[in-house]
Amino acid sequence: MISRETIDEVKSRLDIVDVISDFISLKRSGQNYKALSPFSNEKTASFFVVPAKGIFKDFSSGKGGDAITFVMEHEGMSYLEAIRFLGKKYGVEIKEDVQSDELRDQQSEREGLYILMNFAKDYYKQKLFESEEGKGIGLSYFRERGFNDRTIQKFELGYALEGWNNLSDEAIKQNYNKELLEKTGLVVKNEEGRTYDRFRGRVIFPVHNLSGKVIAFGARMMGKDKNQPKYINSPETEIYHKSNVLYGLYQAKNIIRQKDNCFLVEGYTDVLSMHQADVENVVASSGTALTEEQIKLIKRFTENVTVLFDGDAAGIKAALRGIDLILKGGLNVRVVLLPDNDDPDSYSRKVGTSEFQKYLAQKSQDFISFKSGLYAAEAGNDPIRKAESIKEIVGSIALIPDPIKRSVYLQETSHQLKIGEPVLLTELNKLLIDERRKKDRDKLQPSRRPSESTDELEEQIKDLTAAPLDAKDMVYYQERETVRLLLNYSEHALDDQKLVDFLINELDDVEFSNPVFREIYNHFHELLHQGKVPDSQYLIQHGSSEVKNVVTGLITARHEISPNWKKKHIYIPNESEVLMDLANTNVLRLKFRVVQKMMSDNLLKIRDSEQAGNLDELENCLEQQEGLKKAERELASLLGIVVAR
Ligand code: UTP
Ligand code: MN
Repeated sequence: MISRETIDEVKSRLDIVDVISDFISLKRSGQNYKALSPFSNEKTASFFVVPAKGIFKDFSSGKGGDAITFVMEHEGMSYLEAIRFLGKKYGVEIKEDVQSDELRDQQSEREGLYILMNFAKDYYKQKLFESEEGKGIGLSYFRERGFNDRTIQKFELGYALEGWNNLSDEAIKQNYNKELLEKTGLVVKNEEGRTYDRFRGRVIFPVHNLSGKVIAFGARMMGKDKNQPKYINSPETEIYHKSNVLYGLYQAKNIIRQKDNCFLVEGYTDVLSMHQADVENVVASSGTALTEEQIKLIKRFTENVTVLFDGDAAGIKAALRGIDLILKGGLNVRVVLLPDNDDPDSYSRKVGTSEFQKYLAQKSQDFISFKSGLYAAEAGNDPIRKAESIKEIVGSIALIPDPIKRSVYLQETSHQLKIGEPVLLTELNKLLIDERRKKDRDKLQPSRRPSESTDELEEQIKDLTAAPLDAKDMVYYQERETVRLLLNYSEHALDDQKLVDFLINELDDVEFSNPVFREIYNHFHELLHQGKVPDSQYLIQHGSSEVKNVVTGLITARHEISPNWKKKHIYIPNESEVLMDLANTNVLRLKFRVVQKMMSDNLLKIRDSEQAGNLDELENCLEQQEGLKKAERELASLLGIVVAR
């Protein structure tokens, strides 16, 4: 067992913001920080960190606790693993009370797998630097490819000796469990039940998880034997699920956050070479199209991805499809096309660091523009191919969850393809409606999980936020939140005024569009102006049945606090403690959404006046759109949101 003093020492050095920032990207919000929940797929940040109290709370999954809880939840660690992990981070020496025999018994299988993978990593490393074969073949291969010692150490590269049982023999000699060894995938069993090392006579690239533990290996062959695969990789295991791992993310995550951008390449060696060219915000998909999980993983650190393409024309179009999934994940995608026959590894070495960096900066272009350009050039004046191009590009635009970004792209595409925006808009709407119908159909299937919350409205909102939202839906959501705050906290004091005063003053110029919310809001508004105290009881008794339903739904506590936390003496702030922040953000968000809605309404007017050839009206609307865009940007910057230009 880890000693009590060690645990206390680790706890005393913890800084919750620092700990959580290693895993997700936090944005400051007043005294606190917030982020998109790492535990669910959400579009509005509902994950909060309260540094003053040393706690986090994730409203979308209900999880919450201190820094240690976070590490346990996020990394799937046990309490002691989390303490060890944090001890290492803060340089606390871990003192064990009892001898490691007992510890070994307690170790879960997962922990055993980590230990074995770590052993193997060290073993391969040692062979690379210390054995004749490793130095003569492996190390000189890396050197020939231009990898320096710093890179080799940073990525913990290694070498697996020729021969069938080198690694297994060493593991057995060191008393590692044989069964567990098979479960790591390091050892393979043949039909006769004999075991042999999976990796032999190859250089080794360890794959790390987010906290730096080795969970898999890729092994590249030496020489050019046509009968062997170039790379052999670890199979899926208890601790390695290929689809939610990105090579290089552990080494890159902090820089990705810092640069607010992530380069995406294909191969192990591309990642290494880019690091050597001082481009360290890079991860590899390891030769396959990205999965949804991998996209979410990137999204924890940045919303911006730049994909590097090897410039072979045939490959490009196939690769474009993979990118659609990234768009759908809500990320902003740029692309860089590399010269023919070069991958990032070969090209960066060919031209050197500064040229390479310059190339990335100059050649990077927005994905949709890139795609439109590609198709525009191809279609030329052939009307049929032009029609296909439109379908293709609008198909990508339709995947973007943010309606404002969609409309910006529509404008750009219209310029590039020289096609009127209304045509594109019609096409886009068709796709969005189809998509919505498909979603609705899916919803009728009985396969839905029983929901934890019985709040029907909450469910509806969840569905709305999962679907590609249009501006109208988002206004709905924000209006509802305003009304919820009014109903629950109207009398609450914020600094020197009541919440109801604050909200009504701030929102004086906003007209609610949902009739039920408008009725409730107006009730508060009127009573306040009459100098009376508005209250929700009145609405429950006298409101229309719709109003009653909404009011009762909204005054029911949204999130239950787990009784376990109280038992564990973990302090959770209730909503009323972060109310100032909540009210403020809510006002800004509502305004933001209203502006966005006005923009999309205005866009329709633009379309109509364009079609009708009414130039005065058109000019008017365009001017208005400019003004709205400015307002949108200002609100966005107050909210810490980045909007497409
Ligand atoms: P590449 O064939 O582009 O290899 O495969 P590479 O990374 O450029 O390697 P070098 O430069 O020839 O040494 C891209 C990625 O696809 C996966 C690996 O992750 C590789 O880095 N791959 C490729 C395999 O898993 N198995 C293979 O047989 C080939
Ligand atoms: Mn290569």
